Amino acid sequence: MGRVGLVLAVALAKHGYEVVGIDPDKRVTEMLGRGEAPFYEPNLKEYLAAVSQKKTFTATRHASANSKSDITYIAVGTPTRPGGTIDLTYVEQAAKMIGRSLRVAHQHQLVVIKSTVTPGTARTIVKTIIEDESKKKPGVDFSLCSNPEFLREGHAIHDTEIPDRIIIGSDDPAAIDKLERFYEDFHGEKLPSVVRTSFENAELTKYANNAFLATKVSFINCIANIAERVPHADVESIAAGIGLDERIGSKFLNAGLGWGGSCFPKDLGALLSFSKRLGYGAELVAATVETNKKQAQKAVRFAKLALGSLASKRVSVLGLAFKPDTDDMREAVSIPVIKGLLKQHAIVTVWDPKAMENAHRIFGKTVRYATSASDCLEKADCCIVATEWSEFRKLRPSTFREKMRRPRVIDGRRLYDADEFRAAGIHLVAIGLGPNKTYARSFDTVR
Ligand code: UDX
Repeated sequence: MGRVGLVLAVALAKHGYEVVGIDPDKRVTEMLGRGEAPFYEPNLKEYLAAVSQKKTFTATRHASANSKSDITYIAVGTPTRPGGTIDLTYVEQAAKMIGRSLRVAHQHQLVVIKSTVTPGTARTIVKTIIEDESKKKPGVDFSLCSNPEFLREGHAIHDTEIPDRIIIGSDDPAAIDKLERFYEDFHGEKLPSVVRTSFENAELTKYANNAFLATKVSFINCIANIAERVPHADVESIAAGIGLDERIGSKFLNAGLGWGGSCFPKDLGALLSFSKRLGYGAELVAATVETNKKQAQKAVRFAKLALGSLASKRVSVLGLAFKPDTDDMREAVSIPVIKGLLKQHAIVTVWDPKAMENAHRIFGKTVRYATSASDCLEKADCCIVATEWSEFRKLRPSTFREKMRRPRVIDGRRLYDADEFRAAGIHLVAIGLGPNKTYARSFDTVR
């Protein structure tokens, strides 16, 4: 019942399917039993309330609660082991659990792997475990599909209900037919393109998708770093220019402090180590990861440039979640930024509209927790914007001037109009727009 499983469960239950969500964590099942969401995701609370009322969704720790199901989804985590390889422990446990529950099942069951797994996992691990544990025959008593998930946090319900495409991999055409028919029923007229393919292609498609998107972001960050060194250049204008090329497209070209989250870092790491095991270095993926690591540290470097020494300087960090509209701080850029500031003995105050609870767990007493964005700016010597929350976008130069001891802003997500801020007397440094440059945005507007 994590961010993929729970969202899928409530989306299906809202549509009217009878869904049981299985999770070993008592805290999670109890919260769900009370209709409470264990994490923040837009509309999740409302969907949970609706499905509780409809009585189409229940949550349980009972491991064989799926024995009467037509379809069982595996949506467990696939974390990274030290060294970058994928940890399939939870997938193996889920497969064992499903195998055991199938022993008492009387109907055919379709098992669907949603978790991100390296190629070969469905065919050589999950299928074998289920077969061994259940003593039943694949293709007869149960069948297996690989059906990777492409949802974005912050848009998870939307992406589940209206996906760009559906990828179904299997060695059993009847299993693919069954899942495709299920999605025809679920999505109705909004059914997107369905790609029918092998297990391995489906598994690798997920990694390729995330690696491509992360590469696009690292690429524009690389251009941003070049643009910063060119007088009168601004990465935003360049991104707008190349984004108009239909072969490139405008999405995922927002330069900033880099990418984070539960997927990109883990999946690129797993793809890299998987590829290396096959004897191929995947240098492009390695460079994407390397570019990203360096990008976050730019915030600390910019702060140092603005303040000289950081020791005893008050630095406020606006935005802790790895992106807006989530409370998720996994691999968030804010973490290396704040650690970098603390290492240089800065006094750090933080604020995020949703991620404060998670931040407490990570930073403990090492930082001060503000009660609002403007409280975070109070008497600060420098402010770093690390997440592009819309409430930060609305902050005006006057707020920075009034609240901060010295109005120095490092715009790590390109939220502000540099001309407006600089005209208001704010020392503004923005990614892809080098420090202290005069830049006439009006000359470069794309219409
Ligand atoms: C991603 C994939 O988009 C999704 O398909 C997959 O299922 C899970 O991983 P998510 O982790 O929710 O989704 O975040 P996403 O919106 O892709 O953003 C990832 C990171 O890239 C964020 O840290 C974001 O701030 C950063 N990013 C994104 C940029 O820095 N610039 C951009 O232009 C886009």
